[in-house]
Amino acid sequence: MGNRICIIEGDGVGQEVIPDAQRVLEALALDLEFVRADAGFEHFQKTGDAIPNATLEIVQACDATLFGATSSPMTRVEGYKSPILALRKALDLYANLRPVQSLPANFSRANIDLLIVRENTEGLYAGRERAENDETMIAERVITKRASERIARVAFELAMARKKRVTVVHKANVLKLTDGLFRETCFNVAREFPDVAAKEMLVDSMAMRLVQDPQNFDVIVTTNLFGDILSDEASALMGGLGVAPSGNIGASNAVFEPVHGSAPDIAGQGIANPIGAILSAAMMLDYLELEDAATRVRNAVNMVMESGMRTRDLGGAATTEEMTRAVIENL
Ligand code: NAI
Ligand code: MG
Repeated sequence: MGNRICIIEGDGVGQEVIPDAQRVLEALALDLEFVRADAGFEHFQKTGDAIPNATLEIVQACDATLFGATSSPMTRVEGYKSPILALRKALDLYANLRPVQSLPANFSRANIDLLIVRENTEGLYAGRERAENDETMIAERVITKRASERIARVAFELAMARKKRVTVVHKANVLKLTDGLFRETCFNVAREFPDVAAKEMLVDSMAMRLVQDPQNFDVIVTTNLFGDILSDEASALMGGLGVAPSGNIGASNAVFEPVHGSAPDIAGQGIANPIGAILSAAMMLDYLELEDAATRVRNAVNMVMESGMRTRDLGGAATTEEMTRAVIENL
């Protein structure tokens, strides 16, 4: 039976890189059906709704979703909520997977193969922000045993199929209660995986080690905000936001998206790097257990990187279209 894929382009360069990632998927001639759905700031400005119920219904009826990016204003806009946050919540996509793998290119650090497993539902992004008074704002950082346990289990299970090493990243020396619970819960789960070596590292030290010796890490599991920051940092090791893929995984659904945002500074020019979106599509193929197809996509991307073709973010002048066509030709 074929798979149904929901396609949400979103805003800005999402509208350029997602159609191209879809073209790569189509070129594989798999049994995939694509269903488009709307979300984003543009859609909000037209309709007053950033992510309509119809979109949530389509996503729920599909096997997986490929999502571009949406723009979020820096200041509060009445009625607007971030569509990706709404999706993560509605589908309970509790694990955010951000793999960082060396690309065969001069801009990429060599011999890196790590995976950041970020808790995706709570922490400092639990949405508990309030004004105590005009001059004091408070955000609560929520850590639960349940969410820590299930994210730890994802990390250790994935490590079993990799280099069997997990680094638990926290700041329990300062955040004794919240990260104390996260740390303790992770190491309790670790006992169920005697074949996996579990270590721990404070988040500030981890930020430094990621730059210094990223080759030394396999799976890194951490809370929401730390994972958000560390994964953007780690993406630079492989070539930056333009090439970094990610997946949001839940118990019964998943949404895959390039790590980058809507990139308003380059949107509409046809120069966005489609590789992050294409590698996100490859992650989606893995999730759908179409591993051979996923490997074909990754190999094609590697061949294009080896050929020296570069979009502007990588120091070249290739367009989105040229890069995508080259990937398709190398499938
Ligand atoms: P951004 O990722 O959109 O852009 C950061 C820098 O990277 C820019 O210089 C941009 O030109 C470059 N860049 C990003 N993607 C690229 C690509 N595919 N090819 C070449 N260069 C690329 O992050 P920024 O500027 O912080 O945010 C812009 C908007 O995107 C904001 O409204 C933000 O809220 C939103 N955003 C949305 C995300 C999502 O939907 N999941 C994630 C991150 C940001
Ligand atoms: Mg981010």
